[in-house]
Amino acid sequence: MPAIEVSSLMKAYGKLQAVDGISFRVNEGEIFSLLGPNGAGKTTTIEILEGLRERDGGDVTVLGLDPWKEGYMLHKSIGVIPQGFSFLQYITPKEAVEYYADLFGVKIDVKDILRKVILEDAANNYFMRLSGGQKQKVGLALALVNTPKLVFLDEPTTGLDPQARRAVWDVIRNLKREGISVLLTTHYLEEAEELADTVAIMDKGKIITTGSPQEIIAQHSSGERLKVRGNQELADYLSKNSSLQVDYKDGIVSVMIKRKEEVVATVEIIGRSGLEWSDLTMEHESLEDVFVRLVGKPIESEGPTLVAK
Ligand SMILES: Nc1ncnc2c1ncn2[C@@H]1O[C@H](COP(=O)(O)OP(=O)(O)O)[C@@H](O)[C@H]1O
Ligand SMILES: [Mg+2]
Repeated sequence: MPAIEVSSLMKAYGKLQAVDGISFRVNEGEIFSLLGPNGAGKTTTIEILEGLRERDGGDVTVLGLDPWKEGYMLHKSIGVIPQGFSFLQYITPKEAVEYYADLFGVKIDVKDILRKVILEDAANNYFMRLSGGQKQKVGLALALVNTPKLVFLDEPTTGLDPQARRAVWDVIRNLKREGISVLLTTHYLEEAEELADTVAIMDKGKIITTGSPQEIIAQHSSGERLKVRGNQELADYLSKNSSLQVDYKDGIVSVMIKRKEEVVATVEIIGRSGLEWSDLTMEHESLEDVFVRLVGKPIESEGPTLVAK
């Protein structure tokens, strides 16, 4: 049984079609990432799956349940961190976990949960004194209190510095190791590339493509890039003497390569040019290159962020 099955899901706010007929499946035990810019419809989708928002149309099954009609049952076996998670300022991570355990009426090993989210060192510090990354880890700890089979993480690392982001990634990998399925939304390409087994690229309410990061790159990439350090003159020379696409930026000439014979031909042309060059490398396209091609614009790197304060 898949953890989540979504078919032709629709949700509008007035005239705005926030989710426009998306379908996808999250397999048990995998990390699935909805990747898209602000306004893509990620939070709307995740809130429908959590049973917090009613859908207009389509079929949705989460752990075999209809999240809107059977939310009470579902909430016993899912963990949730909402976007922009925050908590009471004068409560410690240890107290927060104990409090949640009381709410759920479960007996748990608080230490074990704090260990899983790598937060033992800050167990007794006030929430308000924690770093951004530690605050997100409190959210992760709370999401684990009811030993969920599936966890929803809505932009868990937005606004964190790279080091804190990596610390949260470690926790997310721990969840997967425990066999927990994860639905993660993010607008960080490298986060999806780093963590997700399956990525769905979402924009304007639609899923543009789905697959593992490698599959998406292989399917939509237009090839490899040959990069060489050189000047604009070299780029112009290459452009004139080959039929390949040549770009120039910040002292780097890059040539799109589709067939490997083109590598040899390009190197010959560079040699014949008599111009200065150095540092010749081959580069695969990244998920970011593919994203730009598919969505027609780069994903905004920081946008308006909601940071746990
Ligand atoms: N409660 C709401 N009422 C009206 N419009 C909303 C509401 N929530 C979200 N939207 C709009 O729906 C679109 C999708 O939003 P959202 O699901 O939050 O996307 P994301 O999480 O990908 O940024 C956006 O244009 C947003 O402004
Ligand atoms: Mg959102």
